[in-house]
Amino acid sequence: MPTALVTGGAGYIGSHTCVVLLEAGWDVVVVDNLSNSSEIALARVRELAPSGSLSFHRVDLLDEPGLEAAFAEGPVDAVVHFAGLKAVGESVEQPLRYYENNVAGTVQLLKAMQRHGVRDLVFSSSCTVYGDPEEIPVTESAPLGAANPYGRTKLYIEEMLRDVAASEPGWRMTLLRYFNPVGAHPSGRIGEDPTGIPNNLMPYVMQVAVGRRDHVTIHGGDYPTPDGTGVRDYIHVVDLAAGHLAALQALDHIDGAVPVNLGTGNGYSVLDVVRAASAAVGREIRYEIGPRRPGDVAAVWADPRSARELLGWTASRSLDDMVADHWRWQASNPDGFGSATLAG
Ligand code: NAD
Ligand code: UFG
Repeated sequence: MPTALVTGGAGYIGSHTCVVLLEAGWDVVVVDNLSNSSEIALARVRELAPSGSLSFHRVDLLDEPGLEAAFAEGPVDAVVHFAGLKAVGESVEQPLRYYENNVAGTVQLLKAMQRHGVRDLVFSSSCTVYGDPEEIPVTESAPLGAANPYGRTKLYIEEMLRDVAASEPGWRMTLLRYFNPVGAHPSGRIGEDPTGIPNNLMPYVMQVAVGRRDHVTIHGGDYPTPDGTGVRDYIHVVDLAAGHLAALQALDHIDGAVPVNLGTGNGYSVLDVVRAASAAVGREIRYEIGPRRPGDVAAVWADPRSARELLGWTASRSLDDMVADHWRWQASNPDGFGSATLAG
């Protein structure tokens, strides 16, 4: 069995990817400090993929001996690197925390990979590296330029990976630029569990649906889009997880550090999402149109052709699947993992 070391494997996208990797016959070693996740997610990953082998190291990427112990469990064939802080507003207030955790954490990870002769990496980048794109759909060759410290950590890590790949032969790195991940595993057992007030649209909509919040504030109704609200490329997290397996399987054809968009190629507006969610939930989700949110772009969606050509992957799940699965998770876990125990 090949072994993948998955950093951030207890998190939202990481936990879904662990299920897909285990189902495909990979052994998985998770490294996560649980700064934004729960060990219960990993218990449920094991429940969803019971025949697979998953071990867990509660370790921070900056803890070198702890990281060594995780690599020593190998031999590790490839690393899938999700671990990172991701809240845009927080990154503006605490930039050094973001640079240390995300950039310095990745330096430590790459050094550990070098020590252990591991040269295969799949990295979680983001469409945020495109800033406000000049052309939509966005291709991987679009100009780069992030608008906040979080985005710049992704940009700097990408640059660092290109430098490392150029410094010696043998590195095979896929830099996956995700668009807007939403949804949950169809079992409703794992899903997104944001702490505090959600910044992102889908978890906010679902917390309104479950009665935790009163209404959704739509950030701007005067954008140059068909209905005036912002347009994004929402992608089902299970499709995204499958994209990571495809990226691992395609590393034989990768040389150096190669960016690949993971999106559907479709743009949906905020109102499209609210309407689809209302239909899935079976009642109207209340909303009000407020002012634009600083830093938001009007519309962005992916050109997904590289993913098809290089990874043999395309997203298959619709917006209706995304809201139905996200709702199943939210309705059966109204407090996320908060009220669950490791036993169930
Ligand atoms: P998440 O917060 O649910 O998962 C990240 C995981 O990394 C968490 O379990 C956290 O505890 C862990 N972690 C953070 N810093 C760590 C450290 N120093 N050492 C060990 N573990 C650490 O986030 P997610 O939504 O699953 O995102 C995964 C990755 O994808 C992140 O790198 C994120 O920036 C990127 N990404 C996410 C989105 C999105 O909208 N969710 C979009 C684009 C890119
Ligand atoms: N929105 C609302 N109300 C809300 C939340 C969001 O109207 O309560 C709107 C936003 O204005 C935007 C759309 O819903 O038009 C999507 O917003 P999200 O916050 O869900 O997602 P973003 O596209 O703003 O953010 C995503 C990632 C970030 C990344 C950013 C870069 O979540 O990690 O893309 O473009 F930095």
